[in-house]
Amino acid sequence: MRRILSLVLSVSALLLMSITWLLLRKPVSTERKDHMERTLAIIKPDAVMAKNTGNIVNVIENNDFSIVAMYKTRLTREKAENFYAVHKGKGFFNELVNFMASGPIVVLVLEKEDAVKAWRNVMGDTNPANAAPGTIRNLYGTSIGSNAVHGSDATTTATDEIAFFFPNV
Ligand code: CDP
Ligand code: MG
Repeated sequence: MRRILSLVLSVSALLLMSITWLLLRKPVSTERKDHMERTLAIIKPDAVMAKNTGNIVNVIENNDFSIVAMYKTRLTREKAENFYAVHKGKGFFNELVNFMASGPIVVLVLEKEDAVKAWRNVMGDTNPANAAPGTIRNLYGTSIGSNAVHGSDATTTATDEIAFFFPNV
């Protein structure tokens, strides 16, 4: 009889503890409070040729981006055409494709809160002549064609552009 009583008491105590735990535990939030994002960056042939890869990687890290992945490669004309397909038909398309295939590039996946916008701010205006002081294009770009770096222009583009160079990331 005593044994049964102690068993019932133990079970009740366990049950009470479980109920208390269920009531007091923190709800698991399904929403992320930050805007952690990834974007694609390219160090273009002009900047690689001028040995500015290290300087640009420094700017990236000094601005608190995490480098998720990175490698050096060289685009064929065909690959450059595919990457910049959105600009097909524009006056500068041929020059752009020739330039992007003219030498090695370094491609990177960058991560930070609001990375797409943050990276474009660090890059500066497309035309280095209009790029704010201290931006990468101001520091290392020499003309609108040779403007040192690329950055995705929206989160949807970033997803596609990352997949273009990093099918496994
Ligand atoms: O690179 P970004 O997104 O700032 O500019 P874009 O309008 O997407 O153009 C892609 C690239 O084409 C630029 O980075 C320039 O190198 C080149 N471009 C050019 O050579 N001449 C123009 N009038 C516009 C763009
Ligand atoms: Mg663009």
